[in-house]
Amino acid sequence: TLTSDAAKELARNEGGDSSPPALTVESPTGHLSKCREFIARRLSTLLCVDYFSVYAKVFYNKRGGDFILPLRALGLGHLGPIESEILAGFQRNDIISSVVINNAFAIFTCSTSTLVSAVLTDIAATANYGFSDLGLGRKMIVEYSSPNIAKPFHIGHLRPTILGAFLRNLHLRSGWKVTAVNYLGDWGTQFAMIAVGFQKYGSDEALRRDPCKHLFEVYVNITKDAETDPNVKVQAAAFFKKMEDMDEEAIGLWRHWRELTVARYGKDYEQLNAHFDVYAAESEVGQDWQDKSVEVLEGLGYITPVEGSLAKVVDLTPWNLNKGVLRKGNGTSIYLSRDIAEAVRRSEAYSFDKMVYVVASQQDVHMARVIRILKLMEFPWAGQCEHVNHGLVHGPKDAAGRITKFSTRKGNVLPLDDAISQVEDAVHILLRKDAQRYASIPNPDKVAEELAISLLKIADFSRRKIKNYGVDAENLESIVHKGDNGLLLQLVYSRLVALRRRNRHLLPVNPQGVDTDLLTGPLVHRLVFLLGKYPDIIHTTIATNEPCKVVNFCFELCHAIRRLLNTAGTRGNESEATATATAQLFMFGCAEKVLKSAMELLTLRPQEQL
Ligand code: ARG
Repeated sequence: TLTSDAAKELARNEGGDSSPPALTVESPTGHLSKCREFIARRLSTLLCVDYFSVYAKVFYNKRGGDFILPLRALGLGHLGPIESEILAGFQRNDIISSVVINNAFAIFTCSTSTLVSAVLTDIAATANYGFSDLGLGRKMIVEYSSPNIAKPFHIGHLRPTILGAFLRNLHLRSGWKVTAVNYLGDWGTQFAMIAVGFQKYGSDEALRRDPCKHLFEVYVNITKDAETDPNVKVQAAAFFKKMEDMDEEAIGLWRHWRELTVARYGKDYEQLNAHFDVYAAESEVGQDWQDKSVEVLEGLGYITPVEGSLAKVVDLTPWNLNKGVLRKGNGTSIYLSRDIAEAVRRSEAYSFDKMVYVVASQQDVHMARVIRILKLMEFPWAGQCEHVNHGLVHGPKDAAGRITKFSTRKGNVLPLDDAISQVEDAVHILLRKDAQRYASIPNPDKVAEELAISLLKIADFSRRKIKNYGVDAENLESIVHKGDNGLLLQLVYSRLVALRRRNRHLLPVNPQGVDTDLLTGPLVHRLVFLLGKYPDIIHTTIATNEPCKVVNFCFELCHAIRRLLNTAGTRGNESEATATATAQLFMFGCAEKVLKSAMELLTLRPQEQL
């Protein structure tokens, strides 16, 4: 029945990207916000109800009509009189062209001609369409990727890297001054294990060829040996002690390997289109604030002494965070104390207004401890630190349906390189199916690589970030054949570019001269409505840090563009120098601009020729 359809629609709307922006935050500007405000204002006058409470009940509608309002939610009793008031009150106006009432839901449709002219003009006139400048004058740090070095980049590194790069883009475009930090995990016994292992398994030549892969092989081999030979750990502990004592030879080796791996990571980041302003490192964290934090917390009575040991333990049980070790039994520093001191350093160096840590949900407790300790130490900026967490990427399910875990220590990982080349092969096969098109791609290897990366990124981003998910190394290429994927975005984008290039002579010289009234019909309405939603999508994303909303938006946008491109009327006009063709090209130009903006936000490199 209509009621249950409408109810479903509403439920979808309420959970989805379509709930109205919270009223406490500035709302995005744009034609659709104006429409929603108009509906709410008119209703509030017609029905004598509070404007804000009506506003909050007007949702985007996904199909058939643009906005939907559940009348019962107004709590006004009998619907009959309300319905007639609404039907009478909305007649003939140039913002809302029709109102229908379907089983207690009022459905509003925007006037196509006002919608099209307002939205397209807005897009053409705004350099940074969709983004506000809420961040102007504010500084933020986004820390992301932060791998433990001397390991090859594997599929698990993809998430924290692209999620962070996405947040960096999102804030940069919203006016923030962003400093992107990569906090390298480059200290600890792991390096000592490698040093011991290198004597037995190392090769300078293999090291030069692919430092991360080789050091990782060494690490995996020596870890295996350590299982049967207790001597390995003893030797490693001795080596780590040398590192801590800044023994020249030990530090020299460590530095050499570190430089090689960081240089290699640079290539991975370039490939992923992820950028950093600063490489920080656990090895560089000073002792000063590590000691001071213990002193301060001791003074406040949060430290429980451990008898006969140098260990310092902070009691965070009142915050359900158990106890955290701030200094080890032998007096050395630890992950937690380094994070505290590093946060203080960043605040001193950058005086940020906001700091975001993009770190896996596995470290929820650790990050909560860091932020709690900073608050206990009464740093005024502690409340501006935020942990943006994400789920894990694990292996496929085994025969019994159990999840298999990737384990770096056991050497059971899926290197990102391998993942990319697997998908790349599948993309290549697909592209070759159209021999003519394949021949016209200037650099098919590079293009296939970009497409493979787009596929992997969008597959990740289309899930909610907190969701864990499995990657089946045997079956990675299946993402190529999924309907809504990264390839769809790239293909539709390149079609728009081709359309524009083929019709250069018809492009409008001046957007103001375009007769947008020539753009009519439900497919145009749908496309332009989506384009009008972009500022709202961005606005919600700033609050949620969720790339999946942007991905879903891109999918919907691509479908709307494709449907319109496939209709005969559009194609037939391409070669005719008619005002309609010019208006259509203008509209597709706006669509291209928005799609490109969303793709770049998602860290993709839009491919112009496919
Ligand atoms: N290097 C750590 C790891 O790979 C992640 C670091 C997260 N950032 C932080 N500030 N603790 O587990």
